[in-house]
Amino acid sequence: MTRSLRFPDGFLWGAATAAYQIEGSPLADGAGPSIWERFAHTPGLMADGDTGDIACDHYRRHAEDVRLMQALGLTSYRFSIAWSRVLPEGTGRVNAKGLDFYARLVDDLLEHGITPNVTLFHWDLPAALDDRGGWLNRDSADWFAEYAQVMFRALDDRVPLWTTLNEPWVVVDGGYLRGTIAPGHRNLYEAPRVTHNLLRASGAAVAAYRAEGRHRIGVVFNLEPKYPASTRQEDRDATRRAHAYMNTQFTDPVLRGVYPEALAALYGAAWPDFPAADLECIRQPVDFVGINYYTRQVVRDDPTQPPLRAAGVPQRQRTHTETGWEVYEQGLIDTLLWFRDRYGTVPVYLTENGAAFYDPPQAAGPVVEDPLRVDYLERHLKTLRRAIDAGVDVRGYYAWSLLDNLEWSLGFAKRFGLYHVDFSTQRRTPKRSALRYAQIIASHGAALDEA
Ligand code: BGC
Repeated sequence: MTRSLRFPDGFLWGAATAAYQIEGSPLADGAGPSIWERFAHTPGLMADGDTGDIACDHYRRHAEDVRLMQALGLTSYRFSIAWSRVLPEGTGRVNAKGLDFYARLVDDLLEHGITPNVTLFHWDLPAALDDRGGWLNRDSADWFAEYAQVMFRALDDRVPLWTTLNEPWVVVDGGYLRGTIAPGHRNLYEAPRVTHNLLRASGAAVAAYRAEGRHRIGVVFNLEPKYPASTRQEDRDATRRAHAYMNTQFTDPVLRGVYPEALAALYGAAWPDFPAADLECIRQPVDFVGINYYTRQVVRDDPTQPPLRAAGVPQRQRTHTETGWEVYEQGLIDTLLWFRDRYGTVPVYLTENGAAFYDPPQAAGPVVEDPLRVDYLERHLKTLRRAIDAGVDVRGYYAWSLLDNLEWSLGFAKRFGLYHVDFSTQRRTPKRSALRYAQIIASHGAALDEA
């Protein structure tokens, strides 16, 4: 058998989740409410009225879920901390029981040979901080650094990989510009201020880590490559705007200390005059960057779509996932090569990659057949291997997601899991993609040669 697709030694094989999407019991053991608790309980905002009250019940079933990870052969697990479990008011008083939950999870992972990769913020801001302005308040950078420090002191002896924020673009665009996720604002003037404070917060947490952390810390961006729909100048310009808005709005300030010029034109009067010193705090050297890759966008000029004046062009002849995303693995290598060319040799983890496809309801069968997800996984892993061959320093891959879970305001109907979850019984069943991923992991990638 050819061994050409073996991955480099030490490459981490992972799966990822996020607290509000899987844990359930959001107010248990002294936890404070988060903005997702409020959003999900506001009538009309969640598909089918779904909430994270139970979700995958992982808060109570975490030991079982670690065994599922072990069955896959995972060498790493990426999860997030619910800030308001640990600091119910967001700052100040620490809730020991909340901290204990994560400490037990970390210990259990380590006992099973699984490296924890901890995300500090995956969108569930403590509601008490939202009452103080949330990410619009400049103090949010200090609140976040305080919380980060609590976590570092509690877990850095056992956690070798930390990330500050997950996908700041989604928070800005969905949370403050379009209102599709918590806190549900729709305000162009807020969006760039939130970008700025999120990035200041990330920088402050990295600085705090430098003072007392002993391992490695980074930040996670969702990068989506943009391709022009035609050679028309208008479409090329729209593509550049879309790229600046979704991608370099975040990567440039963190890795180069500047915002892309296109943003001031795009936001117009809503673009604030940020103090130059802030950019120094934002540009804290990180040990690695996490990249979440799902799809690409083909872009055309569209003056009716402010602020971007751009729209995506559906590629109807190609496979799309249940969330409407085109399956386009070439975009992954394009993104990784672009990232390396622009920012140099900073190590990268692919911190999320996956697909929602319709999975038939399961009776009692031992395996859920999910051929489209198997195909998605194989295509992206092969493409990732090509990127490594091309010299990109990729250190690990995390499938999104370990379990079917709460796909935010889209509810439970969009299933991304390697394991199927029956939400009425909490029964977990492996999908074919889980079994295939286990083979790939066991062969350190070589099994991809057979696909
Ligand atoms: C997020 C996840 C989400 C996934 C699929 C990412 O944007 O980090 O929380 O479930 O994509 O939409």
